Amino acid sequence: MELREVILRRRTYTKYLEKKVNPKLVTDILNVAIHAPSSGNMQNWNIVLVDDDDKKKQIAQACLEQMWMLQAPMYIVILNKKPDMKRMFGVKANMFGVQNCAALAQNILLLATEEGLASCWVGSFDKDAVSRVVNAPPTQEPQIIITLGYSNDNPRSTRVPLDKVCCFNECGDRMKGYGLFPLQKHMGPIKKESKGLLNKVKNMFKKDNK
Ligand SMILES: Cc1cc2nc3c(=O)[nH]c(=O)nc-3n(C[C@H](O)[C@H](O)[C@H](O)COP(=O)(O)O)c2cc1C
Repeated sequence: MELREVILRRRTYTKYLEKKVNPKLVTDILNVAIHAPSSGNMQNWNIVLVDDDDKKKQIAQACLEQMWMLQAPMYIVILNKKPDMKRMFGVKANMFGVQNCAALAQNILLLATEEGLASCWVGSFDKDAVSRVVNAPPTQEPQIIITLGYSNDNPRSTRVPLDKVCCFNECGDRMKGYGLFPLQKHMGPIKKESKGLLNKVKNMFKKDNK
């Protein structure tokens, strides 16, 4: 699969089939995913694979009762090694630490998609409760959980068009990208036409008033 196809195919799955995921496939994915960028190449992540039913249940409960997670045969818990980051980056440690873990997570999601797996990025959870389940040392904080499995669901997702979220050089200055965004290509002629229409309407009123 081409990279752009993988990106477009990745979706958030909350329905999974009763089919196990081969742990070897997951470690193959992780071996590639850990080539994600990280600030100062700190690689401040620790990864826990969870396939134990009891632990999965406790984690799903810790994820604000997202019990759909139980359908997925495996979870990947990404922990942020905080003291390493604090030593290196001081007040920026938290921001960089989270960004590094997010880069790793996105790599995992895309590689999983390429392998035909369904996944979901789960960010809503009680960190202390997840820490207890995976027996995390106090220096490591659960940052992201990814559910993995197989699915025959076909979830849909929409995006705000690029011309609403992208500017050139400054926030708000969208028109400098004129011609690059699909809708804006047509705005010139539309503006001209509507100006003509406005004049016609004005003229009609002038005539009526005479
Ligand atoms: C930081 C973050 C936290 C998220 N947390 C959850 C979550 O707790 N539960 C869930 O079902 N989806 C979660 N998602 C998935 C989003 O809901 C999903 O990415 C979004 O609705 C867009 O859908 P798509 O991924 O199919 O394009 C999270 C995504 C991100 C990036």
